[in-house]
Amino acid sequence: MSVNITSARLALGEELVEAGISIRGGRIDKICKTAFLPKADRTIDGKGLIAIPGLIDAHVHLRDMELSYKEDFSSGTFAAAAGGFTTVLDMPNTEPPTNSDERLVAKIAKARTAINVNVGFYASLAESAVDLRKMVNAGAIAFKLYMNDPNLDAWHNDREKLLSSMEECGALGVPVAVHAENGLDIERIRTKCVKAGMDSLHDFLRAHAPKFELEAVRAVADLARRAHSNVHVCHVSTHRSLKEVSAARNKGVKITCEVTPHHLFLDSADLNRKRGLALMVPPLRARNDARSLWKAMIRGNIDMIASDHAPHSLEEKTARDVWKIRPGLPGLETTLPLLLTKVRHDEISLARLVRLLAENPARIFGLHRKGHLEAGMDGDVVLIDPKAQFRIDSSKFHSKAHFSPFDGVRCVGRPVMTIVAGHVVYDRGEIVEEKRGKIVGRSVGA
Ligand code: NCD
Ligand code: ZN
Ligand code: ZN
Repeated sequence: MSVNITSARLALGEELVEAGISIRGGRIDKICKTAFLPKADRTIDGKGLIAIPGLIDAHVHLRDMELSYKEDFSSGTFAAAAGGFTTVLDMPNTEPPTNSDERLVAKIAKARTAINVNVGFYASLAESAVDLRKMVNAGAIAFKLYMNDPNLDAWHNDREKLLSSMEECGALGVPVAVHAENGLDIERIRTKCVKAGMDSLHDFLRAHAPKFELEAVRAVADLARRAHSNVHVCHVSTHRSLKEVSAARNKGVKITCEVTPHHLFLDSADLNRKRGLALMVPPLRARNDARSLWKAMIRGNIDMIASDHAPHSLEEKTARDVWKIRPGLPGLETTLPLLLTKVRHDEISLARLVRLLAENPARIFGLHRKGHLEAGMDGDVVLIDPKAQFRIDSSKFHSKAHFSPFDGVRCVGRPVMTIVAGHVVYDRGEIVEEKRGKIVGRSVGA
């Protein structure tokens, strides 16, 4: 099976170049003038469209298993395809959690026959070197450390144990992604509030104060320095936290970070207006933090954008008691259009967008044949219509989560076709070829 994309404009480095792409055997075979493309089984007219490498979202909760009422492998990867993502990395905070090689194997077995885009799996950071190795051999692409939940894995509260676990990850060459918020502080304030019947947004924000994030970032940067491991800080939400990451990086610590669209585009005023529908952790911060993250990103101080797609049922988002609201938002279908709108308004270049959403995540998570439009790379390509105008409407999401704080926002630019290994998976609103996704990992596939 071979496919040609003709007459598109290709995002190649800083340039937009009119050219054709031929994909055969699942890989990009040739990029050249349309007239010189080899014959193919299928030809896609790319006139008026821009071709970018399939995007990679390094922070996605596909849920499934016991949480499939929120999202399952099929619906989550539909949402990814519809959002222009051809590879997503799935988080381990599922039910059951992905915290052993057996559970990882079971998750991969279930996903393998259901996924519409490529999926890589995180596993929970384990204490023992043997368990870490087993999970890598079972296909874990990276490990995840939730510093915000002191009850999840009690040993995480022991810095020396964390250090030796991270040393092992360094030796294995596997990155550790971290939710950096100080869980003991969160838990202390939450418990006090619950006892006192204090359940307002204000109370929630006190428990998730910026300083608890900053302290956790500082702690994890120090661990990364001592362990010589690669640490990736998830959803950095404040100016101060980001400064801490940059300072560590400047001292030679192997630390990377991501920012989410919601922390870039929204702030605490949106949380006050939309309550649960705009509640996530870390929470939305001050307007100045959002602005400062955007500027830092444009300057190249943030490695990637990740959606933190975290679907929940509507019921879980609309509880009156703030402690009962499940934090998290669906993001796979809003991330690219929101950013393309900024490209349209000249606030970010398309080249920068591709770096943040494809090249950098591919490099940091070891997906060596992804992230670039180049002969020999995987045939994962997205065609975008830079002029398409529409309003975000969560009732149309392919995700099971039909809510978004971005509902009603006008966008200019959207993905129109998503190609995975040369198969057209998504075409203008429809999933056309199902289950073309592959498992990506260190010992499987990549
Ligand atoms: C995530 C979820 O629902 O799994 N929620 C969130 O608010 N970000 C968990 C997480 O990413 O920390
Ligand atoms: Zn998190
Ligand atoms: Zn998350």
